[in-house]
Amino acid sequence: MPPESSNDLLLLERPVEGVLIATLNRPEKLNALSKALLGDLTAALAAAKEDGSIRAVVLTGSGKAFSAGADISDMVERGVESYLDPERLEHWHAIEAFPKPLIAAVNGYALGGGCELAMLCDLIVASDAARFGLPEINIGVLPGDGGTQRLPRLVGKSWATRLILTGEIITAAQARDIGLVIETTEPDRLLKRATALAAEIASKAPLAAQFAKQAMRAAFEKPLSEGLQVEQEAVKEAFKTEDRAEGMRAFLEKRPPVFRGR
Ligand code: CAA
Repeated sequence: MPPESSNDLLLLERPVEGVLIATLNRPEKLNALSKALLGDLTAALAAAKEDGSIRAVVLTGSGKAFSAGADISDMVERGVESYLDPERLEHWHAIEAFPKPLIAAVNGYALGGGCELAMLCDLIVASDAARFGLPEINIGVLPGDGGTQRLPRLVGKSWATRLILTGEIITAAQARDIGLVIETTEPDRLLKRATALAAEIASKAPLAAQFAKQAMRAAFEKPLSEGLQVEQEAVKEAFKTEDRAEGMRAFLEKRPPVFRGR
């Protein structure tokens, strides 16, 4: 099979200051995460990381899915090599390491790797029409891009076990009730709401947001005592920034701060 063209697999737009929207755009395959699509997403995030005018990113999908998961056709064709493909794994690591706030705006199916991608984001906002699940058990495997680790951390053991062992697909409202999703909206308001949330975050001190994200990640990965050290280091770094001086001065001068990301 010839390599998939990466043209237009990812659509990028800048709806408001500070915010980038990246849209997975392989709707005919429900935005299944081919290596080419993951590669385009990784490249866009790498550029967004370097671009000081981008302070938060919204990730969504075109058509009726956010993403229906890893590319099953490729897994049938290449077996475990598809899953273990070093470039594919590298793309996942790069997305996970993206330092700026990342908000998933889940418009439809977020299944398997699609749900795992949403869980890599810092927050998930969902359309009422969204559906979440880790249905890998139905095709003889299990979640392999972080699902068995992130879902229990996000929703606890009982719901994670139910979803992973039954393959059940749940509604947006259920996902909100179990804490996977922060907020649900009417479908036609989804992007507006996710963008507003991203814009609100983008208006705050950008480096402090990155330090906070880094410190919160430690909450999932380290024991409390080590996490607290990570937090302390992050606060020390924040104190070195111009934005910290500006934020505190603005407070005392009773005016809004002007944050420059420095
Ligand atoms: N990979 C590749 N192609 C996919 C896909 C996937 N994950 N999900 C959907 N597609 C393709 C379908 O094959 C179909 O293509 P054709 O038109 O060429 O036949 C097209 O997208 C539209 O899909 P459906 O016709 O199935 O759409 P539907 O509305 O009837 O059903 C659905 C929607 C319930 C989401 C169904 O598509 C589905 O169950 N998809 C697979 C979900 C899944 O199992 N995801 C987990 C994959 S494994 C994983 O992520 C990680 C891992 O294992 C390690």
